[in-house]
Amino acid sequence: MTSPRRTFAIISHPDAGKTTLTEKLLVAGGAIHLAGEVKARGANRRARSDWMKIEQQRGISVTSSVMTFERAFDDLGVITFNLLDTPGHEDFSEDTYRTLTAVDSAVMVIDAARGIEAQTRKLFEVCRLRSVPIITFVNKVDREGRPVFELLDEIADMLALDVAPMSWPIGMGGEFEGVLDLETGGVSRPEGDSRNFQGKVDTDVTLPERFAEEVELAQAGYAEFDAEAYRNGDLTPVYFGSALKDFGVAELIDALARHAPAPRPQPAEPAPIAPEADEVTGFVFKVQANMDPNHRDRIAFMRLCSGTFKRGMKLTPTGHGKPIAVHSPILFFAQNREVADEAFPGDIIGIPNHGTLRVGDTLSERADIRFTGLPNFAPEILRRVALKDPTKTKQLRKALDDMAEEGVTQVFYPEIGSNWIVGVVGQLQLEVLISRLEAEYKVAAGLEPAPFDTARWVTGDAGDLKAFADLNRGAMAKDRDGNPVFLAKSAWEIGYVADRYPKVRFNATRER
Ligand code: G4P
Repeated sequence: MTSPRRTFAIISHPDAGKTTLTEKLLVAGGAIHLAGEVKARGANRRARSDWMKIEQQRGISVTSSVMTFERAFDDLGVITFNLLDTPGHEDFSEDTYRTLTAVDSAVMVIDAARGIEAQTRKLFEVCRLRSVPIITFVNKVDREGRPVFELLDEIADMLALDVAPMSWPIGMGGEFEGVLDLETGGVSRPEGDSRNFQGKVDTDVTLPERFAEEVELAQAGYAEFDAEAYRNGDLTPVYFGSALKDFGVAELIDALARHAPAPRPQPAEPAPIAPEADEVTGFVFKVQANMDPNHRDRIAFMRLCSGTFKRGMKLTPTGHGKPIAVHSPILFFAQNREVADEAFPGDIIGIPNHGTLRVGDTLSERADIRFTGLPNFAPEILRRVALKDPTKTKQLRKALDDMAEEGVTQVFYPEIGSNWIVGVVGQLQLEVLISRLEAEYKVAAGLEPAPFDTARWVTGDAGDLKAFADLNRGAMAKDRDGNPVFLAKSAWEIGYVADRYPKVRFNATRER
């Protein structure tokens, strides 16, 4: 018997409290028992992947992982939650973007004192692009925050969507007295030692006058929760709490269970695939190479979209390759990588392989469908790769292709000349690239400025494309898969050529 799935990610600005919240969610779900284990696990993971020096030097986590926990509800039964962790550092946005293609909903964590920040907004836009609905958790109400109305208005304005407060903080910081549930009128009050609030619910409360007024205004001024508007991405329910003090976390899990969508049909060709379909299908949204420096293994992270996956099953990547027998799939429980026997739509499976599986691949039993909509993003920084030892050209090409396949960096091979160009979405990825070239491929290389600023995938009628490419040969390149790319000196130049060649499309994203 399979339990319903909630596959979700947490999006936030670094420091908003994602790690703390993750830990508390896992504790509440019974997946781990001691606070602090997520961080310990982070340190463990770093030890395991010490090939990635940057990770250690900067103390940040570059990999994203999957955590599964279950919770039983009186009325809903057992629900399985798959939490896909996304790297918090803004430079790893592309990795984060791709993780968001594999979830059905997201929790947006906002620091009550800081509100919506640029990165959170960017991630939100990706969610919108993918129709991923969002539950908002305003964190750190135990600290002095901004006025609640100001915060809610900012969310509504910056993200252009309705906000529906589901709870209301009674005071913040030193004045914090608890959180009012706007639906039931119950107030959870802090209880116990100061490190851990937990919740004691009072149903018979008279609010201090100031808050009673606030709550009345709020109820009149903001949207009421509407499940359909939420699922369409037009409305976000807002909860208040403190991850650190474990306050409001249970309510958040409850909200995910009750409102967040179960696995939905996924866009595919020739037709969308419903989770109920018999055939096992899924797509790869992440590939992690060289997790163990002694083995050139890779783990492809596949989101299961339909069917019941059973260990040993043969799956075929659409468009390339032979069927792969998946003998040792990995399911990600909070503490260990465990071998899975069965998995259901919405679950993530790690498939060890030797480089056959790539980001964007569709896997299925019959190989007659293809999932669509896994984007490649236009790089924001381009650099020329300068090889220090010219005899290593072959190794360099292999390394660049590998890393492009993982989606760590993009690589462009110019039509003219032999200077390969790498593109990244954030600066830190360049450091990761150089460090991995050395550590994993024994290639010493440097990066030089490229005469280009950004890239666009060009599409259109073959004749129009050829005419355009012939006249702009010096700026044309191919990506790893041989798709034509226009390298532009500036954003302005893109506008300029787009005006001059109205029949050619200049795409900032490319579907894999
Ligand atoms: P991130 O993953 O989003 O980057 O955030 P993280 O959970 O690491 O939290 C960032 C900082 O905010 C941490 O403090 C954490 O303890 C604190 N924090 C998280 N939730 C709350 C909350 O509800 N209330 C308060 N007051 N603080 C919160 P730090 O000092 O940077 O780290 P640490 O020394 O506590 O590990």
